[in-house]
Amino acid sequence: MTYYSSDIKKDLTHLEKCKYFDEWLDIVKEILLNDEFQKRKYFRHHKGRLWDHVTEVSYYSFLMAKVHHADSKVCAIAGLLHDFYPKAYKYSKELDEIDHDYVTDVKKKQSIFKMHGFSHAEAAAINSKKYFPNLVDDKIFSIIKTHMFPLNISKIPKYKEGWIVTYVDKKLSIGLINKIRYMIDKDKKTVDY
Ligand SMILES: [Fe+2]
Ligand SMILES: [Fe+2]
Repeated sequence: MTYYSSDIKKDLTHLEKCKYFDEWLDIVKEILLNDEFQKRKYFRHHKGRLWDHVTEVSYYSFLMAKVHHADSKVCAIAGLLHDFYPKAYKYSKELDEIDHDYVTDVKKKQSIFKMHGFSHAEAAAINSKKYFPNLVDDKIFSIIKTHMFPLNISKIPKYKEGWIVTYVDKKLSIGLINKIRYMIDKDKKTVDY
């Protein structure tokens, strides 16, 4: 089972390169090279890999932060870790082979508020702090914890960067990546692909 690779660029070919790509990579390299984080290549997310989803949210949040004069480093880190929950919510054979503990028992009945959509943001914040205590400060913790707004109506993003990550996550989850590119290009004329 070879999920781990130190050649992270090879696993980022889904991101459209712009002149800020290397700056983004420098910020998030430590996370991308982490063994636990690389297991997200085997976590499923909608129809693809969680790895692809979180790297996209991170990269496009980072770019949008540049456009909107927010903290792009915070957006890059929080975007990458926003779905770093410890257990997969969809079955994956590869993950089961690494360790059965990664697999949630989907047959187990749960109250609605314990279901993935409601519970994973807080679980991801706690897990992120556990693996990356040097990178996850109170602000990043809060952004991860509130990223499911408005599904989690009581957890409202407190920071501009939190609204960016929440927004980009929603757009990408419904397949609107082109719209994000368009919006960044059009609004600020600056991100310069
Ligand atoms: Fe999420
Ligand atoms: Fe997400």
